[in-house]
Amino acid sequence: MRKGAAGLLLLATVALLAVRCGENRLPEGDARGGDLRAGRRVYLDKCARCHSPKGDGKTVVAGRFPYANLIDGVWRTDGSAATIEKQIRHGRDPMPAFEKKLTDGQIRQTVSYVHELTGGE
Ligand code: HEC
Repeated sequence: MRKGAAGLLLLATVALLAVRCGENRLPEGDARGGDLRAGRRVYLDKCARCHSPKGDGKTVVAGRFPYANLIDGVWRTDGSAATIEKQIRHGRDPMPAFEKKLTDGQIRQTVSYVHELTGGE
């Protein structure tokens, strides 16, 4: 992708995230809100050390891998929930596989959270 286009996409993503933050005040007991909160906990616990808490991947471990940035709109795959789930389950060097470290429920919650974080549809 050209640099200018990537910049625009980043701006659009940031704008989208800013709008979406306002939507986080979900009613208590909302299933999707619960999933996102649980997914956020898993993300901060297992993923943030590489992907950084905000998802930009600017960490010592993952900084040199372009696809470790989850919020720039640039994907090695297509950024769909299905491919995010695949990456979490099977990993991809140097990212470890989480299939055996997380329950199916936790994986589903983490996919929801990452998908939301990335502004995915
Ligand atoms: C040890 C560091 C590390 C940890 C821990 C880690 N990742 Fe990754 N992840 C990476 C790196 C580096 C890449 C980019 C390499 C690649 O797959 O091309 C990546 C890629 C990804 C991608 C694919 C992005 C794309 O462009 O397709 C997703 C999605 C992802 N990680 C999500 C997660 C989630 C969710 C967790 C926590 C459950 C996690 N990662 C934990 C290092 C890590």
